[in-house]
Amino acid sequence: MKKTIAWITTILLGTISAFCQPANDDVPKLVSNDGRHALLVNGSPYFILGAQAHNSSGWPAMLPGIWSALEQMNANTLELPVYWEQIEPRQGSFDFSLVDTLLAQAGEHKIHLVLLWFATWKNGSNHYMPEWMKREAGKYPNLTGKTGKPVDSPSPIIDATMEADKKAFSAMMKHLKNADLQHAVIMVQVENEPGAWGSVRDYSPAAQKLFEGPVPSGLLKPAVLHDLHIPEVAAGNWEKVFGDRADEYFQTWYVARFIGHVAAAGKAEYPLPMYANAALRDPFSNPHADSYESGGPTDNVIPIWKVAAPVIDLLAPDIYLTGTDTILKVISLYDLKDNALFVPELGWTANRVKYLYEVLARGGIGFSPFGLDDNGQHFSPDKIREHLAPFATEYAMMAPMMRELAKWGFEGKIKSVIERDDHADQTIDLGEWQAMISFGGGDRKVSDKVNNPPNGKLMIVLLGENKYLVMGNLCRITFKPIGKNATRSWQYLKVEEGHYEQGAFKSQRILNGDETDWGGPRFGTTPAVLQISLILR
Ligand code: DGJ
Repeated sequence: MKKTIAWITTILLGTISAFCQPANDDVPKLVSNDGRHALLVNGSPYFILGAQAHNSSGWPAMLPGIWSALEQMNANTLELPVYWEQIEPRQGSFDFSLVDTLLAQAGEHKIHLVLLWFATWKNGSNHYMPEWMKREAGKYPNLTGKTGKPVDSPSPIIDATMEADKKAFSAMMKHLKNADLQHAVIMVQVENEPGAWGSVRDYSPAAQKLFEGPVPSGLLKPAVLHDLHIPEVAAGNWEKVFGDRADEYFQTWYVARFIGHVAAAGKAEYPLPMYANAALRDPFSNPHADSYESGGPTDNVIPIWKVAAPVIDLLAPDIYLTGTDTILKVISLYDLKDNALFVPELGWTANRVKYLYEVLARGGIGFSPFGLDDNGQHFSPDKIREHLAPFATEYAMMAPMMRELAKWGFEGKIKSVIERDDHADQTIDLGEWQAMISFGGGDRKVSDKVNNPPNGKLMIVLLGENKYLVMGNLCRITFKPIGKNATRSWQYLKVEEGHYEQGAFKSQRILNGDETDWGGPRFGTTPAVLQISLILR
């Protein structure tokens, strides 16, 4: 009898734990197919409709405001820092209570998390190193500038710093593996905007010795040199191989190598997708590295990062630059066959919302403006609403169809246009049809240019033959047959306005007459979803 009870108990416990603990397969992961990428969460493509909280908001007192802002924003993912100085207050003694609070509350609010490991680097400095390290500048030194003075940035060549960071990060990942059975955490950012401001590289005697030594063979591979626009060479020191970019490339190698080791130690415990983020440089003018943060994953050194830190899954741009052409260029530079596109930060301004469409159309995995919460300023409910509104309206439309958007993006079925600073009309080639988009906030004439700032945008999903899902605002769209049907006449078979619900389009009304004649359906201030079918006559 006792044996039978024990046997039944074993089966029951096994069944219960099988329900409570997702299978190992459910660990979030990045997959690629034919140069396109997807972030799989619970086994299927997921798009991060995210928001990043302020730097000092990863504390329990700040969390209620954060959950409420996320809910109002219709976001599905929170990016929040975890702080080395809090996690390891004394060397070797770890405190994961904040992580546990966060996991518990994220579960209650059904929000996924991207944790930001603020450790050796935060915006080029080491201000999140624990106190016990800050007090030992000799053991964990800053880098030395060209004139011999220390710079407010950690040296990337110091093993003691790297080993300490590896230990803390792997302890955190080990803890996550055991504590986050529901996989609230879907990705981890290793460090934050690493590199150095104020010196292109470390000029300490030890660094100088390495600089005069040979370039690591991984960087001398013809494909890597080609991507760096450097002539092929079999061997040499940094200056000989890389000429006037040598200082920057040297710094990049050591920053990336360090972070690659930290990430590898963490992945050995728990292999979540991991990325590094970049403080950008102007993408057009190839400026000198003394004018931006040197050593981080800026567009020109992506090939170095890929060799030095292969364990980092992707490099991601933090978009604070301005100008539509500039931002579109940046986005294109991080959308690569070997680099999934993810925008982990962008300035919280209404005129940056439109880039969400570009990221989706490129099959990106997520988008997350910076500055979600009121940062302890006690904003009034109206002010919070006003702050969240530009992203909230867009996320409201997309949240119920997030899984479909992620899948369509992965399959290459999304195309988009973003209003340019000159408001010019744009076209999208749909094979048998051409879509023509003009920007003007719903005015009747296709040629009106009234959006100021230029915030119009439109996205088309190829649903099937002659059938499209169209989303956007501040623009209008019309179509014409092209190719072999160019001379045929056509009309709308049906135009429906609606929204997504549980994976399916729900029509609210059919648009016809004034709403589709005279230049095609219009999209006003609030983004809308239309399902449009066309027919040749
Ligand atoms: C970029 C950094 O990565 C963030 O942590 C934050 O400091 C923002 N800049 C502030 O604008």
